[in-house]
Amino acid sequence: MSRHTTDHFHPREQDRQPKEHTDEFFFDSVPSADVGVRKALITAEQSDEPQASEATSEVQQALITAEQRDEPQASEATSVVRKALITAEQRDEPQASEATSVVQLGYVDFDGSVRSNVSCGVMVPADCAKHFRRDIYVGIRDREQGLEFLGRIVAGPFHTPQEQHPKSATVQETVLDPDRRQGYHVRGKIEILGQLTDGERVVSTPTRPRPYSEIYLFPDHRLQQFLGIKGDFYLGHLYGHPCVKVHAQSTNKDFLPRNVGVFGTVGSGKSNTAQVLAEEAIEAGWAVVLIDVEGEYVRMNEPLGDPELAKLLERAHQLQPKGIEDFRVYVPSSGSSAATSPLPFKVPISAFYPEVVADILEFTEAQARVFAMVTAQAERLYSTEASSPDELQRPYNLQQLLDGLMVSPTANGPSVRLLPMANEQDVSTAGVLRSKLLHLGRSGMLDWKPTAPVPELPIDELLVGGRLSVLDISETDDRSRNLAIAYVLQELFKQVIQTPMGSLLPSGEPRPPLLVMIEEVHTFVSRAAAPKMRAVLDSLQIISRRGRKRWMSLALVSQQPNHVPDEIFELANTRFIHQVKSPKNLDPIKRTTAGIDEALWANVPAMGPGQSLLTGAAFKKSLFVKIRPARSRRLLAS
Ligand SMILES: Nc1ncnc2c1ncn2[C@@H]1O[C@H](COP(=O)(O)OP(=O)(O)OP(=O)(O)O)[C@@H](O)[C@H]1O
Ligand SMILES: [Mg+2]
Repeated sequence: MSRHTTDHFHPREQDRQPKEHTDEFFFDSVPSADVGVRKALITAEQSDEPQASEATSEVQQALITAEQRDEPQASEATSVVRKALITAEQRDEPQASEATSVVQLGYVDFDGSVRSNVSCGVMVPADCAKHFRRDIYVGIRDREQGLEFLGRIVAGPFHTPQEQHPKSATVQETVLDPDRRQGYHVRGKIEILGQLTDGERVVSTPTRPRPYSEIYLFPDHRLQQFLGIKGDFYLGHLYGHPCVKVHAQSTNKDFLPRNVGVFGTVGSGKSNTAQVLAEEAIEAGWAVVLIDVEGEYVRMNEPLGDPELAKLLERAHQLQPKGIEDFRVYVPSSGSSAATSPLPFKVPISAFYPEVVADILEFTEAQARVFAMVTAQAERLYSTEASSPDELQRPYNLQQLLDGLMVSPTANGPSVRLLPMANEQDVSTAGVLRSKLLHLGRSGMLDWKPTAPVPELPIDELLVGGRLSVLDISETDDRSRNLAIAYVLQELFKQVIQTPMGSLLPSGEPRPPLLVMIEEVHTFVSRAAAPKMRAVLDSLQIISRRGRKRWMSLALVSQQPNHVPDEIFELANTRFIHQVKSPKNLDPIKRTTAGIDEALWANVPAMGPGQSLLTGAAFKKSLFVKIRPARSRRLLAS
């Protein structure tokens, strides 16, 4: 049994010094869209008066607009706002922090026909309507109960006329008649995240805010504290709050060890998120193994090349492009890789449980039975017969199975060396089995004659803290690819069980925590294939449940959540949910993610690239996060 102690983590010196900028640099580089920002900023800085807060909110507004456009200007605007906030804080005047924070938004509304314990309505006066925006955090000051709440706007803005019922014919007509237009109210819905206590904590609440309670924009500098988003693992910033950085803690058992799911539609930013997870885990001293089905991660040793993303990285996150130093790419001997110096590897067929091979190669029942007999016989026959010096430890190899499955005619009818007692039907099954195994051999990934000089995948070398190992299986057929995944998981798991975290490995180094990332996990085990792949699913469940306690974490990525079996969803507690457009893909995620207000889900189909709903036991509340761009290079799939 392993017991984790935090001593075994060696987070590296973080290369995250905020970059020095001059005002000229800021203003010169802020494009036209941010003239409003500049103006508001200057007003805010010059003033110590209540107007300052007005100006600050204009800054925020400009920023939000830029962010919604999802253009590089957004990050420019972010820097300007940060600068303004810092300047205000440096002045250290009470007005300054007041000015940069408290902006009135509106009042708690009466309850309509839909009632909920965890939400309330907000009504916004016309002059505050410009501050209303979904996803922002608000404070609610309830003087009647003497309480303060933290909330988040989850729905709206909705509009109702001030004077008459919206359905009345007179009101309807004013919409088309500019001369008769009248005022309207802006309304929305707030998810109540909890009650604020004096000790700057959010606790669950047995009540709700009363009508007329005042609602204000919650100041950024207090948010980090309340949301518990501090740590060494930098993910990005809170959506709608570019100054609020979102961190997790690499030593928190509820974060990576609860296993990660990254879901989203094509182009929603999943791979970037996977890359960020890998980079941060490496920085925190983890060993990371990335199973690359597209061949896109094989240049992560180089810094990010895309100039727009590099700009965003620097301006919004104060980070420079940077490649991973300790980096290796492994590729099956028949496949090619865009890596600079890929290392060829093979996996030994004898390392698998026959049931796992049967699942992955989709054997019929008869084939699975014959395969089990054949491998058992091979083990008896060959375990003393070394085929080559480096395979001494393996009881048999694929070549021996192929040779042993040849049907030879004899005086007493056909015979098969590995099936001494074969009946006629078994002999014919053996023929089919042999051709399936032959096909497998052609992947160049297993141990047969043509791969004799190729080394086996060195599992020890994957388990090195701070090292990223990429398995480029982009040119491998589906079945061989799945065997490679099963092999890596199984062998790493064995090592992790053998050597508790921090105990010394044969290399003399302490065993690091381990993160294994699998892209397109639905092609490994699909929902449709799940009932036929019990052995694979069972071993995945064992690995994830037992591995979790031993600091072996899985990160499972999929763009087709509706093809991911529920068993796999259940393994992933820490979830990055990117844009998911279709209900058929969103439904399985919703069904298996607890504690998210229905209104939040409504935002998921409209999220931009890199925006993610982050949920899990490690976070007090689910968060909308704009994930940072990765610092290392990724090749775009052709
Ligand atoms: N966090 C981010 N910040 C800014 N831009 C991003 C971010 N994440 C992704 N993008 C942009 O979106 C593009 C697609 O991202 P990515 O390849 O990560 O998506 P994906 O979900 O993995 O797509 P696919 O389904 O094709 O694998 C990137 O090339 C990048 O331009
Ligand atoms: Mg991708």
